[in-house]
Amino acid sequence: MKALQWQGVNKLAVGEVPDPEIRNAGDVIVKVNRTVTCGSDLHLLGGYIPFMEKGDVLGHEFVGEVVEVGADVQRHRRGDRVVVSSFIACGKCYFCSQQLFSLCDNGNTNPAITETLWGQAPGGCFGYSHAMGGNPGSHAEYIRVPFADVGAFTVPDEVTDERALFASDSASTGWMGADLGGVKPGDVVAVWGAGAVGQMAARAAVLLGADRVIVIDRYDNRLSQAGKHAGAETLNYERTDVALELRERSGGRGPDVCIEAVGMEAHTPGPQNVYDQVKQQLRLQTDRPSAVRDAIHACRKGGSVFVLGVYAGFIDKFPLGALMNKGLTVRGAQMHGQRYIPMLLQRMAKGELTPEYLATHTMPLDEAPEGYRMFKEKEDGCVRAVFTP
Ligand SMILES: NC(=O)c1ccc[n+]([C@@H]2O[C@H](COP(=O)([O-])OP(=O)(O)OC[C@H]3O[C@@H](n4cnc5c(N)ncnc54)[C@H](O)[C@@H]3O)[C@@H](O)[C@H]2O)c1
Ligand SMILES: [Zn+2]
Ligand SMILES: [Zn+2]
Repeated sequence: MKALQWQGVNKLAVGEVPDPEIRNAGDVIVKVNRTVTCGSDLHLLGGYIPFMEKGDVLGHEFVGEVVEVGADVQRHRRGDRVVVSSFIACGKCYFCSQQLFSLCDNGNTNPAITETLWGQAPGGCFGYSHAMGGNPGSHAEYIRVPFADVGAFTVPDEVTDERALFASDSASTGWMGADLGGVKPGDVVAVWGAGAVGQMAARAAVLLGADRVIVIDRYDNRLSQAGKHAGAETLNYERTDVALELRERSGGRGPDVCIEAVGMEAHTPGPQNVYDQVKQQLRLQTDRPSAVRDAIHACRKGGSVFVLGVYAGFIDKFPLGALMNKGLTVRGAQMHGQRYIPMLLQRMAKGELTPEYLATHTMPLDEAPEGYRMFKEKEDGCVRAVFTP
Protein backbone atom coordinates (compact mmCIF):
# COMPACT_ATOMS: atom_id res chain seq x y z
CA MET A 1 0.00 0.00 0.00
CA LYS A 2 0.93 3.65 -0.32
CA ALA A 3 2.24 5.59 2.71
CA LEU A 4 4.03 8.82 3.60
CA GLN A 5 7.49 7.96 4.92
CA TRP A 6 10.05 9.91 6.92
CA GLN A 7 13.30 9.80 4.93
CA GLY A 8 15.53 11.99 7.10
CA VAL A 9 15.38 15.47 8.64
CA ASN A 10 12.96 17.59 6.56
CA LYS A 11 12.69 14.80 3.94
CA LEU A 12 9.41 13.05 3.19
CA ALA A 13 8.32 10.80 0.34
CA VAL A 14 5.31 8.71 -0.60
CA GLY A 15 6.37 5.06 -1.08
CA GLU A 16 5.13 1.47 -0.97
CA VAL A 17 5.04 -0.38 2.38
CA PRO A 18 3.56 -3.79 3.33
CA ASP A 19 -0.18 -3.86 4.14
CA PRO A 20 -0.85 -4.07 7.90
CA GLU A 21 -2.16 -7.33 9.34
CA ILE A 22 -4.05 -8.26 12.51
CA ARG A 23 -1.39 -9.19 15.10
CA ASN A 24 -3.38 -9.43 18.31
CA ALA A 25 -6.96 -10.47 18.90
CA GLY A 26 -7.90 -6.92 20.01
CA ASP A 27 -6.73 -5.29 16.74
CA VAL A 28 -8.74 -3.95 13.85
CA ILE A 29 -7.50 -2.80 10.45
CA VAL A 30 -8.88 0.57 9.34
CA LYS A 31 -8.99 1.85 5.77
CA VAL A 32 -8.05 5.50 6.20
CA ASN A 33 -10.54 8.01 4.73
CA ARG A 34 -8.88 11.15 6.05
CA THR A 35 -5.71 11.85 7.99
CA VAL A 36 -4.32 15.21 9.04
CA THR A 37 -1.03 16.93 9.89
CA CYS A 38 -0.29 18.03 13.46
CA GLY A 39 2.17 20.47 15.01
CA SER A 40 3.66 17.43 16.73
CA ASP A 41 4.69 16.02 13.34
CA LEU A 42 6.77 19.13 12.69
CA HIS A 43 8.94 18.24 15.71
CA LEU A 44 9.61 14.83 14.10
CA LEU A 45 10.17 16.29 10.67
CA GLY A 46 12.70 18.80 12.00
CA GLY A 47 14.63 16.10 13.88
CA TYR A 48 13.84 17.55 17.32
CA ILE A 49 12.66 14.12 18.48
CA PRO A 50 15.63 12.02 17.37
CA PHE A 51 14.04 8.58 17.43
CA MET A 52 12.79 8.29 13.83
CA GLU A 53 14.16 5.74 11.39
CA LYS A 54 14.29 6.07 7.62
CA GLY A 55 11.09 4.65 6.16
CA ASP A 56 8.89 5.18 9.24
CA VAL A 57 5.28 6.03 8.33
CA LEU A 58 4.03 9.31 9.83
CA GLY A 59 0.55 10.37 10.97
CA HIS A 60 -1.51 9.89 14.14
CA GLU A 61 -4.88 11.55 13.48
CA PHE A 62 -7.40 9.75 11.30
CA VAL A 63 -10.90 8.64 10.53
CA GLY A 64 -11.76 5.63 8.41
CA GLU A 65 -13.63 2.38 7.91
CA VAL A 66 -13.07 -0.90 9.76
CA VAL A 67 -12.15 -3.56 7.19
CA GLU A 68 -10.84 -6.42 9.39
CA VAL A 69 -11.62 -7.35 12.98
CA GLY A 70 -9.57 -9.38 15.50
CA ALA A 71 -11.22 -12.31 17.29
CA ASP A 72 -11.64 -10.56 20.67
CA VAL A 73 -13.02 -7.24 19.40
CA GLN A 74 -16.50 -6.60 20.82
CA ARG A 75 -17.43 -3.05 19.92
CA HIS A 76 -16.59 -2.91 16.22
CA ARG A 77 -17.46 -4.76 13.09
CA ARG A 78 -16.54 -4.53 9.46
CA GLY A 79 -17.97 -1.40 7.82
CA ASP A 80 -18.00 0.75 11.01
CA ARG A 81 -16.92 4.35 10.45
CA VAL A 82 -14.49 5.13 13.28
CA VAL A 83 -12.30 7.89 14.64
CA VAL A 84 -9.28 6.70 16.60
CA SER A 85 -7.41 8.26 19.51
CA SER A 86 -3.83 9.16 18.53
CA PHE A 87 -2.53 7.64 21.79
CA ILE A 88 -2.81 3.88 22.20
CA ALA A 89 -4.08 2.52 25.53
CA CYS A 90 -5.00 -0.93 26.87
CA GLY A 91 -8.01 0.15 28.94
CA LYS A 92 -7.07 -2.20 31.80
CA CYS A 93 -3.92 -1.02 33.57
CA TYR A 94 -3.64 1.21 36.66
CA PHE A 95 -3.38 4.39 34.56
CA CYS A 96 -6.21 3.52 32.17
CA SER A 97 -8.45 2.78 35.17
CA GLN A 98 -7.94 6.41 36.19
CA GLN A 99 -8.66 7.65 32.67
CA LEU A 100 -5.04 8.76 32.23
CA PHE A 101 -4.95 6.92 28.91
CA SER A 102 -1.82 8.50 27.42
CA LEU A 103 0.07 7.16 30.46
CA CYS A 104 -1.00 3.55 29.74
CA ASP A 105 1.56 0.95 30.85
CA ASN A 106 0.83 -1.29 27.85
CA GLY A 107 0.38 1.15 24.96
CA ASN A 108 4.08 1.48 24.20
CA THR A 109 5.78 -1.74 23.14
CA ASN A 110 9.19 -0.08 23.22
CA PRO A 111 9.34 1.69 26.60
CA ALA A 112 13.12 1.60 27.13
CA ILE A 113 13.89 4.95 25.48
CA THR A 114 11.40 7.02 27.46
CA GLU A 115 12.05 5.11 30.69
CA THR A 116 15.66 6.17 30.39
CA LEU A 117 14.81 9.73 29.38
CA TRP A 118 11.96 10.45 31.82
CA GLY A 119 12.07 7.78 34.54
CA GLN A 120 8.87 6.09 33.33
CA ALA A 121 7.38 5.46 29.90
CA PRO A 122 4.08 7.02 28.86
CA GLY A 123 1.83 5.14 26.41
CA GLY A 124 2.38 4.67 22.69
CA CYS A 125 1.23 6.76 19.76
CA PHE A 126 0.67 6.07 16.07
CA GLY A 127 3.43 7.29 13.74
CA TYR A 128 5.33 9.03 16.48
CA SER A 129 8.89 7.64 16.53
CA HIS A 130 10.41 4.59 18.17
CA ALA A 131 10.33 6.37 21.53
CA MET A 132 6.52 6.17 21.36
CA GLY A 133 6.39 2.53 20.25
CA GLY A 134 7.43 2.67 16.60
CA ASN A 135 3.82 2.11 15.44
CA PRO A 136 3.24 2.70 11.72
CA GLY A 137 1.24 5.90 11.23
CA SER A 138 -2.00 6.89 9.53
CA HIS A 139 -0.68 8.75 6.49
CA ALA A 140 -1.31 5.51 4.61
CA GLU A 141 -4.11 3.60 2.92
CA TYR A 142 -4.57 1.22 5.88
CA ILE A 143 -3.53 1.13 9.53
CA ARG A 144 -3.51 -1.47 12.31
CA VAL A 145 -5.30 -0.23 15.44
CA PRO A 146 -4.36 -2.14 18.63
CA PHE A 147 -6.83 -2.24 21.58
CA ALA A 148 -9.59 -1.19 19.16
CA ASP A 149 -12.37 -1.56 21.75
CA VAL A 150 -10.63 1.14 23.81
CA GLY A 151 -9.25 3.55 21.20
CA ALA A 152 -11.63 3.44 18.20
CA PHE A 153 -15.03 5.14 18.38
CA THR A 154 -17.96 4.79 15.98
CA VAL A 155 -18.81 8.13 14.41
CA PRO A 156 -22.50 9.13 14.64
CA ASP A 157 -24.22 9.42 11.25
CA GLU A 158 -24.76 13.18 11.69
CA VAL A 159 -21.00 13.83 11.97
CA THR A 160 -19.03 14.00 8.73
CA ASP A 161 -15.54 12.53 8.32
CA GLU A 162 -14.23 16.09 7.90
CA ARG A 163 -15.52 17.02 11.37
CA ALA A 164 -14.91 13.74 13.23
CA LEU A 165 -11.27 13.71 12.12
CA PHE A 166 -10.36 16.37 14.67
CA ALA A 167 -11.67 14.32 17.63
CA SER A 168 -8.68 12.03 16.99
CA ASP A 169 -6.23 14.49 18.53
CA SER A 170 -6.47 18.29 18.39
CA ALA A 171 -10.00 18.61 19.83
CA SER A 172 -9.25 16.02 22.54
CA THR A 173 -5.97 17.73 23.35
CA GLY A 174 -7.54 21.17 23.57
CA TRP A 175 -10.38 19.86 25.74
CA MET A 176 -7.91 18.17 28.08
CA GLY A 177 -6.00 21.45 28.52
CA ALA A 178 -9.14 23.29 29.57
CA ASP A 179 -10.49 20.42 31.67
CA LEU A 180 -7.32 19.41 33.55
CA GLY A 181 -6.20 23.06 33.64
CA GLY A 182 -9.29 23.49 35.81
CA VAL A 183 -11.30 26.02 33.76
CA LYS A 184 -14.46 27.02 35.68
CA PRO A 185 -17.41 29.24 34.77
CA GLY A 186 -16.40 32.88 35.13
CA ASP A 187 -12.66 32.30 34.62
CA VAL A 188 -10.35 34.35 32.46
CA VAL A 189 -8.33 31.94 30.29
CA ALA A 190 -5.30 32.76 28.14
CA VAL A 191 -4.13 30.39 25.39
CA TRP A 192 -0.67 30.68 23.79
CA GLY A 193 -0.68 29.42 20.18
CA ALA A 194 -3.51 29.70 17.62
CA GLY A 195 -2.76 26.45 15.81
CA ALA A 196 -5.49 23.81 15.78
CA VAL A 197 -4.61 22.74 19.33
CA GLY A 198 -4.76 26.26 20.79
CA GLN A 199 -8.00 27.01 18.95
CA MET A 200 -9.57 23.79 20.27
CA ALA A 201 -8.42 24.62 23.81
CA ALA A 202 -10.00 28.06 23.47
CA ARG A 203 -13.28 26.56 22.20
CA ALA A 204 -13.30 24.09 25.11
CA ALA A 205 -12.76 26.94 27.60
CA VAL A 206 -15.69 28.85 26.07
CA LEU A 207 -17.94 25.77 26.25
CA LEU A 208 -16.88 25.15 29.87
CA GLY A 209 -18.19 28.60 30.74
CA ALA A 210 -15.08 30.79 30.91
CA ASP A 211 -15.95 34.47 31.03
CA ARG A 212 -13.13 35.65 28.75
CA VAL A 213 -10.84 33.52 26.58
CA ILE A 214 -7.85 35.23 25.00
CA VAL A 215 -5.73 33.58 22.29
CA ILE A 216 -2.17 34.78 21.60
CA ASP A 217 -0.19 34.29 18.36
CA ARG A 218 1.45 36.37 15.64
CA TYR A 219 -0.48 35.03 12.61
CA ASP A 220 -3.57 37.14 11.99
CA ASN A 221 -5.32 34.46 9.89
CA ARG A 222 -5.10 31.99 12.78
CA LEU A 223 -6.20 34.61 15.31
CA SER A 224 -9.20 35.56 13.20
CA GLN A 225 -10.24 31.89 13.06
CA ALA A 226 -9.99 31.77 16.88
CA GLY A 227 -12.23 34.85 17.05
CA LYS A 228 -14.78 33.65 14.53
CA HIS A 229 -15.07 29.94 15.34
CA ALA A 230 -13.91 29.57 18.95
CA GLY A 231 -15.54 32.77 20.21
CA ALA A 232 -12.25 34.00 21.72
CA GLU A 233 -10.61 37.41 22.04
CA THR A 234 -7.19 37.65 20.41
CA LEU A 235 -3.78 39.29 20.91
CA ASN A 236 -1.00 39.55 18.35
CA TYR A 237 2.19 39.39 20.42
CA GLU A 238 4.15 41.25 17.76
CA ARG A 239 1.92 44.29 18.22
CA THR A 240 0.90 44.10 21.89
CA ASP A 241 2.48 43.95 25.33
CA VAL A 242 0.80 40.63 26.13
CA ALA A 243 1.47 40.51 29.88
CA LEU A 244 0.12 44.04 30.35
CA GLU A 245 -2.92 43.43 28.18
CA LEU A 246 -3.78 40.15 29.95
CA ARG A 247 -3.63 41.91 33.28
CA GLU A 248 -5.95 44.67 31.94
CA ARG A 249 -8.44 42.07 30.79
CA SER A 250 -8.48 40.15 34.07
CA GLY A 251 -9.24 42.84 36.64
CA GLY A 252 -5.54 43.50 37.24
CA ARG A 253 -4.88 39.94 38.50
CA GLY A 254 -3.75 37.94 35.47
CA PRO A 255 -5.57 34.99 33.87
CA ASP A 256 -6.88 32.23 36.16
CA VAL A 257 -5.84 29.51 33.72
CA CYS A 258 -3.01 29.74 31.17
CA ILE A 259 -2.83 27.08 28.46
CA GLU A 260 0.37 26.69 26.46
CA ALA A 261 -0.27 25.22 22.98
CA VAL A 262 3.00 26.12 21.26
CA GLY A 263 5.66 23.54 22.06
CA MET A 264 9.38 23.07 21.66
CA GLU A 265 9.79 25.13 18.47
CA ALA A 266 8.39 28.33 19.96
CA HIS A 267 9.19 31.66 18.36
CA THR A 268 10.15 34.67 20.49
CA PRO A 269 10.85 38.13 19.19
CA GLY A 270 14.23 39.58 20.14
CA PRO A 271 17.52 38.24 21.46
CA GLN A 272 15.97 35.54 23.67
CA ASN A 273 14.96 33.65 20.51
CA VAL A 274 18.52 33.62 19.19
CA TYR A 275 19.73 32.43 22.58
CA ASP A 276 17.20 29.57 22.70
CA GLN A 277 17.74 28.60 19.04
CA VAL A 278 21.51 28.41 19.41
CA LYS A 279 21.31 26.41 22.62
CA GLN A 280 18.82 24.02 21.03
CA GLN A 281 20.93 23.52 17.94
CA LEU A 282 24.06 22.89 20.02
CA ARG A 283 21.95 20.43 22.09
CA LEU A 284 22.68 22.45 25.23
CA GLN A 285 18.94 22.49 25.72
CA THR A 286 16.58 20.28 23.73
CA ASP A 287 13.53 22.55 23.70
CA ARG A 288 12.70 26.25 23.25
CA PRO A 289 10.41 27.15 26.11
CA SER A 290 9.48 30.81 25.56
CA ALA A 291 5.69 30.36 25.65
CA VAL A 292 5.92 28.36 28.88
CA ARG A 293 7.98 31.14 30.45
CA ASP A 294 5.44 33.75 29.29
CA ALA A 295 2.48 31.74 30.60
CA ILE A 296 4.07 31.31 34.04
CA HIS A 297 4.94 34.99 34.17
CA ALA A 298 1.42 36.16 33.18
CA CYS A 299 -0.61 33.71 35.27
CA ARG A 300 -2.41 35.13 38.33
CA LYS A 301 -1.16 34.18 41.79
CA GLY A 302 -2.53 30.75 42.73
CA GLY A 303 -3.55 30.10 39.12
CA SER A 304 -2.93 27.14 36.88
CA VAL A 305 -0.71 26.60 33.83
CA PHE A 306 -1.32 23.64 31.53
CA VAL A 307 1.40 22.66 29.06
CA LEU A 308 -0.12 21.08 25.95
CA GLY A 309 2.84 21.87 23.69
CA VAL A 310 5.19 18.92 23.21
CA TYR A 311 8.60 19.07 24.93
CA ALA A 312 11.16 16.30 24.77
CA GLY A 313 13.91 16.92 27.27
CA PHE A 314 15.53 19.83 29.02
CA ILE A 315 15.24 23.61 29.09
CA ASP A 316 17.04 26.30 30.96
CA LYS A 317 15.91 29.63 32.40
CA PHE A 318 12.81 27.88 33.73
CA PRO A 319 11.10 30.40 36.07
CA LEU A 320 10.93 28.18 39.13
CA GLY A 321 10.94 31.25 41.37
CA ALA A 322 7.69 32.55 39.86
CA LEU A 323 6.10 29.10 40.03
CA MET A 324 6.99 28.70 43.70
CA ASN A 325 6.39 32.19 44.99
CA LYS A 326 3.14 32.76 43.07
CA GLY A 327 1.76 29.40 44.25
CA LEU A 328 1.08 28.13 40.73
CA THR A 329 -0.07 24.69 39.68
CA VAL A 330 1.75 23.56 36.53
CA ARG A 331 0.64 20.42 34.69
CA GLY A 332 1.11 18.90 31.29
CA ALA A 333 0.15 15.72 29.44
CA GLN A 334 -0.12 13.96 26.17
CA MET A 335 -3.76 13.71 25.35
CA HIS A 336 -6.14 11.25 26.99
CA GLY A 337 -8.30 10.92 23.86
CA GLN A 338 -10.29 7.91 25.07
CA ARG A 339 -11.61 10.03 27.94
CA TYR A 340 -13.00 12.80 25.72
CA ILE A 341 -13.83 11.43 22.24
CA PRO A 342 -17.40 10.16 22.98
CA MET A 343 -18.36 13.52 24.53
CA LEU A 344 -16.68 15.44 21.67
CA LEU A 345 -18.56 13.40 19.06
CA GLN A 346 -21.84 14.27 20.84
CA ARG A 347 -20.96 17.96 20.79
CA MET A 348 -19.98 17.66 17.13
CA ALA A 349 -23.35 16.05 16.37
CA LYS A 350 -25.11 18.97 18.10
CA GLY A 351 -23.04 21.53 16.16
CA GLU A 352 -21.32 22.95 19.26
CA LEU A 353 -17.92 21.94 17.96
CA THR A 354 -17.26 22.39 14.22
CA PRO A 355 -13.50 22.00 13.77
CA GLU A 356 -13.64 21.14 10.05
CA TYR A 357 -12.83 24.81 9.34
CA LEU A 358 -9.26 24.03 10.52
CA ALA A 359 -8.73 21.92 7.37
CA THR A 360 -7.56 24.80 5.21
CA HIS A 361 -6.04 22.42 2.64
CA THR A 362 -7.19 18.98 1.48
CA MET A 363 -5.26 16.86 -1.03
CA PRO A 364 -4.55 13.28 -2.11
CA LEU A 365 -1.91 11.37 -0.12
CA ASP A 366 0.45 11.60 -3.12
CA GLU A 367 0.74 15.33 -2.45
CA ALA A 368 1.47 14.94 1.28
CA PRO A 369 5.14 16.06 1.08
CA GLU A 370 3.96 19.34 -0.46
CA GLY A 371 1.16 19.54 2.13
CA TYR A 372 3.71 19.25 4.93
CA ARG A 373 5.86 21.92 3.34
CA MET A 374 2.92 24.33 3.24
CA PHE A 375 1.91 23.44 6.81
CA LYS A 376 5.44 23.95 8.11
CA GLU A 377 5.90 27.28 6.29
CA LYS A 378 2.29 28.33 7.09
CA GLU A 379 2.07 29.12 3.40
CA ASP A 380 -1.27 30.22 1.93
CA GLY A 381 -2.73 30.40 5.45
CA CYS A 382 -2.28 26.65 6.02
CA VAL A 383 -3.52 25.64 9.49
CA ARG A 384 -3.99 21.92 8.79
CA ALA A 385 -3.37 19.84 5.65
CA VAL A 386 -5.73 16.86 5.30
CA PHE A 387 -4.81 13.89 3.12
CA THR A 388 -7.25 11.52 1.43
CA PRO A 389 -5.43 8.21 0.75
N1 LIG B 1 -0.35 17.26 24.47
C1 LIG B 1 -0.74 16.61 23.39
O1 LIG B 1 -1.26 15.51 23.46
C2 LIG B 1 -0.58 17.24 22.06
C3 LIG B 1 -1.37 16.85 20.99
C4 LIG B 1 -1.25 17.52 19.77
C5 LIG B 1 -0.31 18.52 19.64
N2 LIG B 1 0.46 18.86 20.70
C6 LIG B 1 1.45 19.93 20.64
O2 LIG B 1 0.79 21.17 20.74
C7 LIG B 1 1.59 22.18 20.11
C8 LIG B 1 0.71 22.96 19.14
O3 LIG B 1 0.22 22.12 18.13
P1 LIG B 1 -0.46 22.71 16.81
O4 LIG B 1 -0.79 21.53 15.99
O5 LIG B 1 -1.50 23.67 17.14
O6 LIG B 1 0.82 23.43 16.17
P2 LIG B 1 1.02 24.55 15.06
O7 LIG B 1 2.44 24.48 14.67
O8 LIG B 1 -0.03 24.44 13.99
O9 LIG B 1 0.73 25.91 15.85
C9 LIG B 1 1.59 26.44 16.82
C10 LIG B 1 1.29 27.94 16.92
O10 LIG B 1 2.08 28.51 17.97
C11 LIG B 1 2.43 29.83 17.58
N3 LIG B 1 3.56 30.31 18.38
C12 LIG B 1 4.89 30.08 18.21
N4 LIG B 1 5.59 30.71 19.17
C13 LIG B 1 4.69 31.36 19.96
C14 LIG B 1 4.80 32.18 21.11
N5 LIG B 1 6.00 32.43 21.67
N6 LIG B 1 3.67 32.68 21.66
C15 LIG B 1 2.44 32.41 21.12
N7 LIG B 1 2.26 31.64 20.03
C16 LIG B 1 3.39 31.12 19.46
C17 LIG B 1 2.73 29.66 16.10
O11 LIG B 1 2.73 30.91 15.43
C18 LIG B 1 1.63 28.71 15.64
O12 LIG B 1 0.48 29.39 15.17
C19 LIG B 1 2.75 21.43 19.43
O13 LIG B 1 3.88 21.45 20.28
C20 LIG B 1 2.23 20.01 19.35
O14 LIG B 1 3.30 19.09 19.35
C21 LIG B 1 0.35 18.24 21.90
ZN1 LIG C 1 -1.34 15.42 16.94
ZN1 LIG D 1 -3.50 0.86 30.02
